[in-house]
Amino acid sequence: MHYDIEKILYSEQAIQQKVEELGKKISRDYKDKNPILISILKGGVVFLADIMRAVSIPIEIEFMGVASYGNSTKSTGVVQITKDCNIDISNRHVLIIEDIVDTGLSLNYILRYLQGKNPLSLNICVLLDKVDTHEPDIEMAYKAFDVPDEFIVGYGLDYDEKYRNLPYIGILKKEIYQ
Ligand code: PRP
Repeated sequence: MHYDIEKILYSEQAIQQKVEELGKKISRDYKDKNPILISILKGGVVFLADIMRAVSIPIEIEFMGVASYGNSTKSTGVVQITKDCNIDISNRHVLIIEDIVDTGLSLNYILRYLQGKNPLSLNICVLLDKVDTHEPDIEMAYKAFDVPDEFIVGYGLDYDEKYRNLPYIGILKKEIYQ
């Protein structure tokens, strides 16, 4: 385990098992629908890379960049699109692939934005849900794990751009960011 990590929440093996499950479910639900999987940069890329290979039906992928935190550990409440979705999603089935829902600000913004482009359907596939930090009104069609209100890193998630490449999901030691 990395020295800066307090505790591993989900091992590489536990993540892969869950990804396989979600991949099978997505494949069943989107059969013959040729969905577009939109990954939210940067945290969502590792999850997308695994989910897309766990899906057995034809899919397309796209990326969107949204910044809400800057280099701070708390949400600023300001959501900014740093990379737009460049393909026409009107009349297409869209599945957003996101790493974590914390305050829910990013996802709510993205949902409203993409809904405005008239997709045939719009659903969310989330790796981690910080259940205690957002209103319970965000409908997540696919979710891997719930996490406590701690600083979570690994498997795409960073602190100050570090730890994204850890193969597991863990809690960062407080002394690293306090
Ligand atoms: C993180 C994470 C989510 C968002 C969740 O992104 O990837 O997109 O914050 O927080 P919220 O629910 O409070 O809006 P961040 O802006 O840190 O960018 P990154 O993915 O590039 O690390």
